[in-house]
Amino acid sequence: MDFKGKRVLITGAAGFIGSNLTDALLEKGAEVIGIDNLFNGRVENLEEAMQNKNFQFHKGDIRDLNFLLDLFKDIDIVYHQAAFTSVPQSVKMPENCNNVNVNGVLNVLNAARRMNVDKVVYASSSSVYGDTPTLPKREDMPRIPISPYGVAKLACEAYMQVYYQVYGLKTISLRYFNVFGPRQRDSPYSGVIAIWLGNIIRNEDLVIFGDGTNSRDFTYIKDVILANLLATEHDAPGEILNIGAGSPINLTDLAKLMLKITKKETLGLIYSDPRPGDIIHSYADITKAKQLIKFEPQFNQEAGLKDYFKWYKNKYNVDLDIV
Ligand SMILES: NC(=O)c1ccc[n+]([C@@H]2O[C@H](COP(=O)([O-])OP(=O)(O)OC[C@H]3O[C@@H](n4cnc5c(N)ncnc54)[C@H](O)[C@@H]3O)[C@@H](O)[C@H]2O)c1
Repeated sequence: MDFKGKRVLITGAAGFIGSNLTDALLEKGAEVIGIDNLFNGRVENLEEAMQNKNFQFHKGDIRDLNFLLDLFKDIDIVYHQAAFTSVPQSVKMPENCNNVNVNGVLNVLNAARRMNVDKVVYASSSSVYGDTPTLPKREDMPRIPISPYGVAKLACEAYMQVYYQVYGLKTISLRYFNVFGPRQRDSPYSGVIAIWLGNIIRNEDLVIFGDGTNSRDFTYIKDVILANLLATEHDAPGEILNIGAGSPINLTDLAKLMLKITKKETLGLIYSDPRPGDIIHSYADITKAKQLIKFEPQFNQEAGLKDYFKWYKNKYNVDLDIV
Protein backbone atom coordinates (compact mmCIF):
# COMPACT_ATOMS: atom_id res chain seq x y z
CA MET A 1 0.00 0.00 0.00
CA ASP A 2 1.48 3.31 -1.07
CA PHE A 3 0.18 6.49 0.54
CA LYS A 4 2.61 8.87 -1.16
CA GLY A 5 0.75 11.99 -2.26
CA LYS A 6 -2.24 11.23 0.01
CA ARG A 7 -3.37 13.78 2.59
CA VAL A 8 -5.06 12.04 5.50
CA LEU A 9 -6.59 13.33 8.72
CA ILE A 10 -6.73 11.33 11.94
CA THR A 11 -9.07 12.39 14.74
CA GLY A 12 -7.96 11.23 18.19
CA ALA A 13 -4.37 11.17 16.87
CA ALA A 14 -2.82 11.48 20.33
CA GLY A 15 -4.70 8.45 21.65
CA PHE A 16 -3.71 4.79 21.74
CA ILE A 17 -4.99 3.69 18.31
CA GLY A 18 -4.78 7.12 16.62
CA SER A 19 -1.07 7.56 17.42
CA ASN A 20 -0.19 4.08 16.16
CA LEU A 21 -2.16 4.79 12.98
CA THR A 22 -0.37 8.13 12.62
CA ASP A 23 3.04 6.42 12.74
CA ALA A 24 1.96 3.73 10.26
CA LEU A 25 0.60 6.22 7.74
CA LEU A 26 3.67 8.45 8.00
CA GLU A 27 5.82 5.40 7.38
CA LYS A 28 3.75 4.68 4.25
CA GLY A 29 4.50 8.18 2.94
CA ALA A 30 1.19 9.94 3.67
CA GLU A 31 0.92 13.54 4.75
CA VAL A 32 -0.88 13.29 8.10
CA ILE A 33 -2.92 15.91 9.94
CA GLY A 34 -3.59 14.79 13.51
CA ILE A 35 -6.25 16.37 15.70
CA ASP A 36 -7.05 15.71 19.35
CA ASN A 37 -8.42 17.69 22.30
CA LEU A 38 -6.06 15.77 24.64
CA PHE A 39 -8.96 14.69 26.87
CA ASN A 40 -7.43 11.23 27.07
CA GLY A 41 -4.61 11.39 24.51
CA ARG A 42 -1.03 12.43 25.21
CA VAL A 43 1.32 14.54 23.11
CA GLU A 44 4.15 12.17 24.06
CA ASN A 45 2.42 9.50 21.93
CA LEU A 46 3.24 11.70 18.93
CA GLU A 47 6.92 12.24 19.83
CA GLU A 48 8.20 10.43 16.72
CA ALA A 49 5.52 11.84 14.43
CA MET A 50 6.39 15.39 15.50
CA GLN A 51 9.90 14.88 14.03
CA ASN A 52 8.39 14.09 10.61
CA LYS A 53 7.92 17.00 8.19
CA ASN A 54 4.81 15.27 6.81
CA PHE A 55 3.00 15.57 10.15
CA GLN A 56 0.99 18.43 11.62
CA PHE A 57 -0.80 18.34 14.97
CA HIS A 58 -3.77 20.58 15.82
CA LYS A 59 -5.23 20.64 19.30
CA GLY A 60 -9.00 20.98 19.03
CA ASP A 61 -12.36 19.40 19.54
CA ILE A 62 -14.53 17.40 17.13
CA ARG A 63 -17.55 19.15 18.67
CA ASP A 64 -16.31 22.35 16.98
CA LEU A 65 -17.50 22.21 13.35
CA ASN A 66 -15.54 25.30 12.25
CA PHE A 67 -12.32 23.80 13.56
CA LEU A 68 -12.99 20.69 11.43
CA LEU A 69 -14.02 22.61 8.31
CA ASP A 70 -10.71 24.51 8.27
CA LEU A 71 -8.64 21.33 8.53
CA PHE A 72 -10.65 19.08 6.21
CA LYS A 73 -9.69 21.14 3.12
CA ASP A 74 -7.89 18.96 0.52
CA ILE A 75 -8.04 15.85 2.71
CA ASP A 76 -8.38 12.51 0.89
CA ILE A 77 -9.18 10.20 3.81
CA VAL A 78 -10.40 10.79 7.38
CA TYR A 79 -9.75 8.09 9.99
CA HIS A 80 -12.17 8.91 12.79
CA GLN A 81 -10.70 7.52 16.05
CA ALA A 82 -11.56 10.30 18.53
CA ALA A 83 -14.13 9.28 21.11
CA PHE A 84 -15.21 9.24 24.71
CA THR A 85 -13.75 5.75 25.05
CA SER A 86 -14.53 4.48 28.53
CA VAL A 87 -17.58 2.19 28.85
CA PRO A 88 -17.86 2.61 32.68
CA GLN A 89 -17.56 6.41 32.33
CA SER A 90 -20.28 6.38 29.66
CA VAL A 91 -22.56 4.69 32.20
CA LYS A 92 -21.82 7.53 34.66
CA MET A 93 -22.00 10.37 32.09
CA PRO A 94 -24.22 9.35 29.15
CA GLU A 95 -24.71 12.97 27.97
CA ASN A 96 -20.96 13.60 27.70
CA CYS A 97 -20.55 10.34 25.82
CA ASN A 98 -23.35 11.27 23.42
CA ASN A 99 -21.98 14.76 22.79
CA VAL A 100 -18.62 13.43 21.67
CA ASN A 101 -19.55 10.04 20.24
CA VAL A 102 -22.68 11.05 18.34
CA ASN A 103 -22.72 14.84 17.87
CA GLY A 104 -18.95 14.86 17.29
CA VAL A 105 -19.25 12.12 14.68
CA LEU A 106 -21.99 14.06 12.88
CA ASN A 107 -19.66 17.04 12.74
CA VAL A 108 -16.94 14.85 11.23
CA LEU A 109 -19.36 13.52 8.61
CA ASN A 110 -20.74 16.96 7.79
CA ALA A 111 -17.27 18.48 7.49
CA ALA A 112 -16.15 15.55 5.30
CA ARG A 113 -19.16 15.95 3.04
CA ARG A 114 -18.85 19.72 2.73
CA MET A 115 -15.11 19.59 2.04
CA ASN A 116 -15.39 16.70 -0.49
CA VAL A 117 -13.32 14.19 1.47
CA ASP A 118 -13.06 10.95 -0.50
CA LYS A 119 -13.47 8.44 2.35
CA VAL A 120 -14.22 8.23 6.09
CA VAL A 121 -13.00 5.18 8.03
CA TYR A 122 -14.85 4.95 11.35
CA ALA A 123 -13.67 3.25 14.56
CA SER A 124 -16.72 1.37 15.77
CA SER A 125 -16.78 -1.26 18.49
CA SER A 126 -17.85 -4.80 19.34
CA SER A 127 -19.86 -3.16 22.16
CA VAL A 128 -22.73 -2.71 19.66
CA TYR A 129 -23.58 -6.41 20.04
CA GLY A 130 -24.22 -6.19 23.78
CA ASP A 131 -24.68 -9.49 25.55
CA THR A 132 -26.58 -11.49 22.92
CA PRO A 133 -25.75 -15.19 23.43
CA THR A 134 -24.79 -16.26 19.90
CA LEU A 135 -21.07 -16.56 19.23
CA PRO A 136 -19.05 -15.73 17.24
CA LYS A 137 -20.57 -12.33 16.49
CA ARG A 138 -21.47 -11.77 12.85
CA GLU A 139 -22.21 -8.34 11.42
CA ASP A 140 -25.83 -9.21 10.50
CA MET A 141 -26.77 -10.39 14.02
CA PRO A 142 -29.01 -8.37 16.34
CA ARG A 143 -27.22 -5.48 17.99
CA ILE A 144 -28.46 -4.78 21.50
CA PRO A 145 -25.92 -2.53 23.25
CA ILE A 146 -25.88 -2.52 27.05
CA SER A 147 -24.03 0.78 27.64
CA PRO A 148 -24.42 4.37 26.43
CA TYR A 149 -21.04 3.92 24.71
CA GLY A 150 -22.41 0.96 22.73
CA VAL A 151 -25.56 2.88 21.81
CA ALA A 152 -23.49 5.77 20.46
CA LYS A 153 -21.27 3.47 18.39
CA LEU A 154 -24.35 1.76 16.92
CA ALA A 155 -26.00 5.09 16.07
CA CYS A 156 -22.86 6.25 14.30
CA GLU A 157 -22.50 3.09 12.23
CA ALA A 158 -26.02 3.87 10.99
CA TYR A 159 -24.98 7.49 10.29
CA MET A 160 -21.96 6.20 8.33
CA GLN A 161 -24.27 4.07 6.16
CA VAL A 162 -26.79 6.86 5.66
CA TYR A 163 -24.09 9.35 4.65
CA TYR A 164 -23.04 6.90 1.94
CA GLN A 165 -26.56 6.02 0.81
CA VAL A 166 -27.99 9.53 0.91
CA TYR A 167 -24.99 11.77 0.18
CA GLY A 168 -22.55 9.41 -1.58
CA LEU A 169 -19.77 9.95 0.97
CA LYS A 170 -17.70 6.74 1.02
CA THR A 171 -17.71 5.50 4.60
CA ILE A 172 -16.70 2.25 6.24
CA SER A 173 -17.12 1.19 9.88
CA LEU A 174 -14.61 -1.13 11.51
CA ARG A 175 -15.99 -2.85 14.61
CA TYR A 176 -12.85 -3.30 16.70
CA PHE A 177 -12.83 -6.11 19.28
CA ASN A 178 -10.79 -5.30 22.46
CA VAL A 179 -7.60 -3.80 21.13
CA PHE A 180 -4.31 -3.97 23.06
CA GLY A 181 -0.71 -2.94 22.55
CA PRO A 182 1.82 -0.11 22.80
CA ARG A 183 0.55 3.21 24.23
CA GLN A 184 -2.62 1.81 25.74
CA ARG A 185 -3.08 3.59 29.04
CA ASP A 186 -2.80 1.82 32.36
CA SER A 187 -5.80 3.45 34.04
CA PRO A 188 -9.00 2.16 35.65
CA TYR A 189 -10.80 2.97 32.40
CA SER A 190 -8.46 1.34 29.91
CA GLY A 191 -8.16 -2.18 28.58
CA VAL A 192 -7.45 -4.97 31.03
CA ILE A 193 -4.16 -6.00 29.41
CA ALA A 194 -2.60 -2.55 29.97
CA ILE A 195 -3.87 -2.55 33.57
CA TRP A 196 -2.51 -6.03 34.29
CA LEU A 197 0.84 -5.24 32.67
CA GLY A 198 1.10 -2.29 35.11
CA ASN A 199 0.25 -4.67 37.99
CA ILE A 200 2.87 -7.18 36.84
CA ILE A 201 5.57 -4.51 36.67
CA ARG A 202 4.67 -3.32 40.20
CA ASN A 203 4.49 -6.97 41.42
CA GLU A 204 0.80 -6.64 42.33
CA ASP A 205 -1.86 -9.36 42.11
CA LEU A 206 -4.24 -9.14 39.13
CA VAL A 207 -7.88 -8.18 39.77
CA ILE A 208 -10.52 -9.89 37.61
CA PHE A 209 -14.05 -8.41 37.54
CA GLY A 210 -16.49 -11.37 37.57
CA ASP A 211 -15.62 -15.06 37.91
CA GLY A 212 -12.94 -15.10 35.20
CA THR A 213 -15.03 -16.99 32.65
CA ASN A 214 -15.85 -13.79 30.73
CA SER A 215 -14.08 -14.00 27.39
CA ARG A 216 -12.82 -11.52 24.84
CA ASP A 217 -11.36 -11.57 21.35
CA PHE A 218 -8.29 -9.49 22.23
CA THR A 219 -6.87 -7.98 19.05
CA TYR A 220 -3.32 -6.72 18.65
CA ILE A 221 -2.96 -3.08 17.64
CA LYS A 222 -0.84 -3.94 14.58
CA ASP A 223 -3.78 -5.93 13.17
CA VAL A 224 -6.15 -3.02 13.78
CA ILE A 225 -3.78 -0.69 11.93
CA LEU A 226 -3.57 -3.23 9.11
CA ALA A 227 -7.38 -3.27 8.90
CA ASN A 228 -7.47 0.54 8.62
CA LEU A 229 -4.94 0.49 5.78
CA LEU A 230 -6.83 -2.28 3.97
CA ALA A 231 -10.12 -0.41 4.43
CA THR A 232 -8.50 2.47 2.56
CA GLU A 233 -7.13 0.34 -0.21
CA HIS A 234 -10.27 -1.72 -0.93
CA ASP A 235 -13.58 -0.10 -1.74
CA ALA A 236 -16.41 -1.35 0.49
CA PRO A 237 -18.48 1.81 0.90
CA GLY A 238 -21.26 1.81 3.48
CA GLU A 239 -20.07 -1.53 4.92
CA ILE A 240 -19.58 -2.54 8.55
CA LEU A 241 -16.83 -5.07 9.30
CA ASN A 242 -15.78 -6.94 12.44
CA ILE A 243 -12.08 -6.51 13.13
CA GLY A 244 -10.81 -9.03 15.66
CA ALA A 245 -8.24 -11.76 16.11
CA GLY A 246 -11.06 -14.29 15.60
CA SER A 247 -10.00 -16.33 18.68
CA PRO A 248 -11.42 -15.68 22.16
CA ILE A 249 -9.69 -16.21 25.51
CA ASN A 250 -11.27 -16.09 28.97
CA LEU A 251 -9.95 -13.66 31.56
CA THR A 252 -8.49 -16.27 33.88
CA ASP A 253 -6.55 -17.88 31.01
CA LEU A 254 -5.42 -14.47 29.79
CA ALA A 255 -4.14 -13.51 33.25
CA LYS A 256 -2.29 -16.82 33.55
CA LEU A 257 -0.80 -16.38 30.06
CA MET A 258 0.46 -12.89 30.94
CA LEU A 259 2.01 -14.19 34.18
CA LYS A 260 3.64 -17.08 32.29
CA ILE A 261 5.11 -14.85 29.55
CA THR A 262 6.58 -12.49 32.17
CA LYS A 263 7.67 -15.32 34.53
CA LYS A 264 5.56 -13.83 37.35
CA GLU A 265 3.49 -16.90 38.13
CA THR A 266 3.86 -16.24 41.85
CA LEU A 267 1.45 -13.29 41.57
CA GLY A 268 -2.17 -14.09 42.46
CA LEU A 269 -5.56 -13.60 40.78
CA ILE A 270 -8.22 -11.72 42.80
CA TYR A 271 -11.86 -12.09 41.74
CA SER A 272 -14.08 -9.02 42.26
CA ASP A 273 -17.73 -8.03 41.51
CA PRO A 274 -18.64 -7.73 37.81
CA ARG A 275 -18.88 -4.11 36.50
CA PRO A 276 -22.15 -2.69 35.08
CA GLY A 277 -22.06 -2.45 31.29
CA ASP A 278 -19.43 -5.19 30.93
CA ILE A 279 -20.20 -7.81 28.29
CA ILE A 280 -19.82 -11.49 29.23
CA HIS A 281 -18.52 -13.00 25.99
CA SER A 282 -17.23 -11.37 22.84
CA TYR A 283 -15.76 -13.14 19.83
CA ALA A 284 -15.56 -11.94 16.22
CA ASP A 285 -16.45 -13.75 13.04
CA ILE A 286 -14.08 -11.99 10.64
CA THR A 287 -15.21 -13.71 7.43
CA LYS A 288 -16.67 -10.49 5.99
CA ALA A 289 -13.48 -8.47 6.57
CA LYS A 290 -11.48 -11.30 4.98
CA GLN A 291 -13.75 -11.21 1.93
CA LEU A 292 -14.22 -7.48 1.44
CA ILE A 293 -10.86 -5.98 2.45
CA LYS A 294 -8.63 -9.10 2.49
CA PHE A 295 -8.02 -8.77 6.24
CA GLU A 296 -5.92 -11.59 7.74
CA PRO A 297 -4.78 -11.02 11.34
CA GLN A 298 -1.03 -11.48 11.74
CA PHE A 299 -0.89 -11.87 15.55
CA ASN A 300 -2.48 -14.42 17.82
CA GLN A 301 -2.86 -13.29 21.44
CA GLU A 302 0.40 -14.78 22.69
CA ALA A 303 2.41 -13.25 19.82
CA GLY A 304 0.71 -9.89 20.38
CA LEU A 305 1.38 -9.95 24.13
CA LYS A 306 5.07 -10.73 23.59
CA ASP A 307 5.47 -7.98 20.98
CA TYR A 308 3.73 -5.50 23.33
CA PHE A 309 5.77 -6.46 26.40
CA LYS A 310 9.04 -6.18 24.44
CA TRP A 311 8.05 -2.71 23.25
CA TYR A 312 7.19 -1.72 26.84
CA LYS A 313 10.46 -3.05 28.25
CA ASN A 314 12.52 -1.11 25.68
CA LYS A 315 10.49 2.07 25.94
CA TYR A 316 10.37 2.35 29.74
CA ASN A 317 13.49 0.38 30.58
CA VAL A 318 11.59 -1.76 33.09
CA ASP A 319 12.80 -4.97 34.65
CA LEU A 320 10.69 -7.47 32.73
CA ASP A 321 11.77 -10.98 31.85
CA ILE A 322 9.86 -12.13 28.75
CA VAL A 323 9.70 -15.84 27.82
N1 LIG B 1 -9.16 0.33 22.45
C1 LIG B 1 -10.13 -0.53 22.15
O1 LIG B 1 -10.13 -1.69 22.59
C2 LIG B 1 -11.27 -0.12 21.25
C3 LIG B 1 -12.25 -1.09 20.94
C4 LIG B 1 -13.30 -0.72 20.12
C5 LIG B 1 -13.37 0.56 19.61
N2 LIG B 1 -12.42 1.47 19.93
C6 LIG B 1 -12.54 2.81 19.35
O2 LIG B 1 -11.31 3.17 18.76
C7 LIG B 1 -11.12 4.57 18.84
C8 LIG B 1 -9.77 4.88 19.48
O3 LIG B 1 -9.76 4.34 20.80
P1 LIG B 1 -8.47 4.31 21.74
O4 LIG B 1 -8.47 3.00 22.42
O5 LIG B 1 -7.29 4.76 20.96
O6 LIG B 1 -8.86 5.38 22.83
P2 LIG B 1 -8.09 6.69 23.34
O7 LIG B 1 -8.93 7.23 24.44
O8 LIG B 1 -6.67 6.38 23.61
O9 LIG B 1 -8.16 7.64 22.08
C9 LIG B 1 -9.25 8.50 21.81
C10 LIG B 1 -8.68 9.87 21.56
O10 LIG B 1 -9.75 10.77 21.25
C11 LIG B 1 -9.45 12.01 21.88
N3 LIG B 1 -10.71 12.74 22.07
C12 LIG B 1 -11.69 12.47 22.97
N4 LIG B 1 -12.68 13.35 22.86
C13 LIG B 1 -12.32 14.21 21.86
C14 LIG B 1 -12.93 15.35 21.29
N5 LIG B 1 -14.13 15.78 21.72
N6 LIG B 1 -12.29 16.00 20.28
C15 LIG B 1 -11.07 15.58 19.86
N7 LIG B 1 -10.44 14.50 20.37
C16 LIG B 1 -11.06 13.83 21.35
C17 LIG B 1 -8.80 11.63 23.20
O11 LIG B 1 -8.05 12.68 23.76
C18 LIG B 1 -7.94 10.47 22.77
O12 LIG B 1 -6.65 10.86 22.39
C19 LIG B 1 -12.30 5.11 19.65
O13 LIG B 1 -13.28 5.57 18.75
C20 LIG B 1 -12.80 3.89 20.39
O14 LIG B 1 -14.17 4.00 20.71
C21 LIG B 1 -11.37 1.16 20.74
